This record gives sequence, structure tokens and C-alpha cells, in this order.
Amino acid sequence: MARSKVHQFPVQWVEISRQAFLNNVQEFKNRLGQTGLLAVVKANAYGHGLAEIAGLAAGAGIEWFGVHSLEEGLSLRQKGFYQKILILGYLPLVGAEEAVRAELRSTVYNLETLKALAAASRKLKKRALVHLKIETGTNRQGIGLNKLGSFIKLLKKTPEVVLEGISSHFANIEDTTDDYYPRYQLENFLQAVKYLENNGIKVPVRHMSCSAAAILFPETYFNLARVGIGLYGLWPSRETMVSCRLRGQSPLRLKPVLSWRARVAQIKNVPRGAYIGYGCTYRTTRPTRLAVIPVGYYDGYDRGLSNSAYVLVKGKRAQVRGRVCMDFIMVDITDIPGVRLEDPVTLVGTEGREKITADQLAALAGTISYEMVTRINPLIPRFIV
Ligand SMILES: Cc1ncc(COP(=O)(O)O)c(C=O)c1O
Repeated sequence: MARSKVHQFPVQWVEISRQAFLNNVQEFKNRLGQTGLLAVVKANAYGHGLAEIAGLAAGAGIEWFGVHSLEEGLSLRQKGFYQKILILGYLPLVGAEEAVRAELRSTVYNLETLKALAAASRKLKKRALVHLKIETGTNRQGIGLNKLGSFIKLLKKTPEVVLEGISSHFANIEDTTDDYYPRYQLENFLQAVKYLENNGIKVPVRHMSCSAAAILFPETYFNLARVGIGLYGLWPSRETMVSCRLRGQSPLRLKPVLSWRARVAQIKNVPRGAYIGYGCTYRTTRPTRLAVIPVGYYDGYDRGLSNSAYVLVKGKRAQVRGRVCMDFIMVDITDIPGVRLEDPVTLVGTEGREKITADQLAALAGTISYEMVTRINPLIPRFIV
């Protein structure tokens, strides 16, 4: 989707609240105390806009960014962000040189990546900074405790590679109020740290916490926490909030950062008994006034919201009628007088006394808020308000 010619008048846009973001940063800083805060800005900063969020985070004094890919890291460097950037995801072997050149920290968990980074480091005469990821029970990325020996052996032969950090990631911390599995993973992580220490390697930066861990488990703080969803003002899950209450901890006062708005593209009256949209899945039960909104699943408005979600028009709820199309939805404005062509509507956010949250839409679409926000099309303009 290209930006409309009248740049100040886009047909849809995302508003990023500076005040809400800074509030959330402060809430996590208060919770974490001495522990450093790494802002997870992967996936276009969870759909909020990489450059916009990195700018706000840098302004708030955040010194660490977590990205998924080499490309995201390079994009931050190109935009002039000099903070410590850790690639959390997969660094392809051919990308080792670029990562070292741009002073990006890489997550490593195998000998191949370690060798590629060492070679890049020797070639560029520049140290390679790495964070070793330990497999503690998520069975995604990470090196098993039984493989640590060979990793350490190679590491000792490649002094050009600096083991700056050691990390792991929780599998089940948001999904339940039972803390058995996080504690099991924490135990495995501590074992790995000890193993390295017994082999003469003290890793300065240790990190394991995501938002839920940062909210609930001070035992997992170490000296850095990788916080994503919470910085955007969304709770990782309902279970996290319940756990927080059960433990007698004060809940963080998080404020949603993102609002998503669009304009009315057409208004039309249809008679009783008319079908609306693809598949004729909705049939009007009364003479109906419809507003056509130029937002669809291409933009990240999930097709699972067909016939179920609502948008806000003039501060009132307007139900989505029919299926979500690729680029349009139709909403019922019969009971909302005075709607005019190009009036703004709210897909996520607050209007007057009504609001629609990413969590509500996620529940309707059968997914999680993470997916709801990260899938908002990166081409839609983001404005900091
Ligand atoms: C490796 C890693 N660390 C930290 C995070 C942040 O998690 P959250 O958004 O729950 O804070 C993620 C998110 O997926 C992740 O994959």
C-alpha cells in the first residue's frame, strides 16, 4: 500500500503514544531495579514501528535493543542507533561479516556460527560479540547442556570472539499460573552458568526474563531483562495478571501504546434482507446504513474478525458485517447518526468512553495480542502523538 498523496491525510494510520510508552518503560524500570532493560523491538517493534519505538526508547535512556534478524539490526544502525543491539533470532552464516562490521551482538548456540563469526572477526580485525543461548526446555533455539563442553573448547581457541552474554527463553511462563516449568528452566540455566564458571568462563551479561518473568519472577532478573509486549502496554496474558494477584505483587500500570485508525470510504443504505460481502455470510434484518472502511486482512485486520468485531465511529460501536475482505470491511452505522464520508474510525484504541483493545480483537480472532499487533502492515504510516 503506497502512502496517499496527501501525506497528512492517510486513509489509515497507527498512532503511537509517547506518554504511554514512556510510562511503560518506567513501570518496568521500577520493577527491575538494578537490572538493565533490553527493549525487544523485533517484528517492527511488535507492529508499532521500529524507528519510532527505537527513537522513543533511546530517548528514555534504554541502552539495549533486541531484534530478530540481521536486517533489523542493520536498519537500526542505518538510522543512527548506536545502542547495543542483540540479534535474538537466526544469523545466517553468510551474515557473520555484516554483523561483526555493524557491531551487532549475535545469539549463538552452535559451533558453525561461532566459527563463522571468528573468521569474520579475524578478517575485519574487529571483535565479535556473542551471547550464548542455552536450551533449558523450550526446545527452540539453544545449545544443550551436554554440548557445552565442545563449545567452550572452541571458544577458548577463538579469543577474537567475546562471550559477552548468556541467555535462555521461557516456554510456558505466560500460559499458566503454575510456576513449575519456569523454575525447572531456571534451574537448567543456572547449571549452565555454573558449568561455564567451573571451566573458568564468567559471562558478564546474563538474561532470561521476558515481560511475564520481569513482572513475576525476580529470581530470573540477573543483570538484563528482555522485555517486549509489556513495553507496548499489553499484558503477556490473563494468567500473568492472575499470577501477579495470587502472589500479592502489585500489577504494573501498563498503558496501550498503539491506536489504529482509518477513514470512512463510502456510506450506503441497504434494504432489509440484503447480503453483505463475500460469501453472503451476513444478511440484514432491517434497513441498514453501512460504512465501508478501507482496511482488510492485508493490513493485518484478521479475517477471523468477520461478523464479530466492531470499530468505533463517533465514539460508538459499529459492528463488522460480513467477511473481512483483503482491503475492506463494512460496518453497521444505522444507529450512529451524522457519520460522513472520510470521518475517522478507530479499529484499536479509545474514542470517548468506548475502547477496543488488541486483546479483545485477539480473543475474537482466536489468537493472542502479540499476533494482532505484529501483523499490522508495516506500510501503514505510524505517527507519534
Ligand atoms: C528470545 C525472546 N526474548 C524476549 C522476548 C520478549 O517476550 P515478551 O514480548 O513476552 O516480553 C521474546 C518474544 O517473543 C523472545 O523471543
